[in-house]
Amino acid sequence: MSAKRIGVLTSGGDCPGLNAVIRGAAKTCWKLGYDCIGFLKGYEGLYDPVQYITLTPQNTTGILNEGGTILGSTNKGRFAATCGVSDRIEIKRELLEGVKCTVDQLGLEGLVCIGGDGSLAIAEQFHRFGIPVVGVPKTIDNDLSATAFTFGFYSAVDCATDALDRLHTTAASHERVFVLEVMGRHAGWIALHAGIAGGGDVILIPEISWTFEGVCRKILEREQQGKKFTLIVVAEGANLPEGGLVGEHRDGAQARLGGIGEIVAREIQRRLLREVRVVVLGHLQRGGAPTTFDRVLATQYGAHAVRLIHEGKLGEMICYQPPHMNSVPIREAVHRIREVDSNGAAVQAARALGISFGGGTEQASPFLVPAREMTIDDVEVSAEFTLEMAESATAEALAD
Ligand code: F6P
Repeated sequence: MSAKRIGVLTSGGDCPGLNAVIRGAAKTCWKLGYDCIGFLKGYEGLYDPVQYITLTPQNTTGILNEGGTILGSTNKGRFAATCGVSDRIEIKRELLEGVKCTVDQLGLEGLVCIGGDGSLAIAEQFHRFGIPVVGVPKTIDNDLSATAFTFGFYSAVDCATDALDRLHTTAASHERVFVLEVMGRHAGWIALHAGIAGGGDVILIPEISWTFEGVCRKILEREQQGKKFTLIVVAEGANLPEGGLVGEHRDGAQARLGGIGEIVAREIQRRLLREVRVVVLGHLQRGGAPTTFDRVLATQYGAHAVRLIHEGKLGEMICYQPPHMNSVPIREAVHRIREVDSNGAAVQAARALGISFGGGTEQASPFLVPAREMTIDDVEVSAEFTLEMAESATAEALAD
């Protein structure tokens, strides 16, 4: 056994690109002279019974483009540190002590924790307890602060965009309204990006309030223009107009969101007497191969996470702040979720194209400069063309 060792684990909901991070971290470890071990089933593998495998060139070869994670993952296990949107739970001291013991006994210089908001909140508590960790931002939701992109996000967007492309042709053929419900938890990133990429007509996200009148108006407007079908993308975490989220409340755990698509569809059908169909994309968004963007991002995250441990920058999360790979203290990345800017460039571009966000009164293109009345001060008078000349020209014209 080499004296130096680094551990890796994947925690929380899976997403495309996890294996690419594992591979990137493992290969970088060998280059730098570390042995690399992978804990199984997320944080669970760190404690009673401790479960891990040695990551070797043999078992990590060919996994770059594989979905899921060769290490397995646990979403809500003994180490859960999040219950509400961002309500934190303190991890039991007995568990923290157990993990510290595992890390010490295995002689780990550091542990690469690949996870989203909830999983990195666990890593943050590990760090405060003196367990050497670094974080890698993973989630299809793209809702982690401090990084422009989490890996997995664009793969999910690709999946939702493909669904919209497919719905487009069938919606047009049958003159139907379709509602596509996508994931994203309390942020509308997937809905916004897929809605733009897939030519959605209405996008409903948690960050922008909307009404059924607004949605119906857009459908009618399109019909008046001869477009007899409409594609609506709704984020699972969008608030209903009357307030409230749709999903399953779970005591002491995060709510399981889902079901808003059906409500939106039923209400439009009731109001407009049109056939409205619903597609809930669900976990398809989390499966399959990562896109090229996510492969590159995940590989970089894996390599740079190991670099952080090598440089002794513990308690940090690697983050992509284009064009740089930087790092921030994990607590900065998990203190609150990163939401869509309701007036950001993507939303503005969508509005400029006429995409509706279900507002009561949709704004005209945000790029239109409002017309204003001209005054004499606005008229530039050139040296050759004086006001007197203009006045006499006007008088002549009137005399004719
Ligand atoms: O955070 C990723 C995510 O896929 C969310 O978009 C979704 O709300 C949630 O996880 C679903 O989690 P689970 O697979 O545990 O139901």
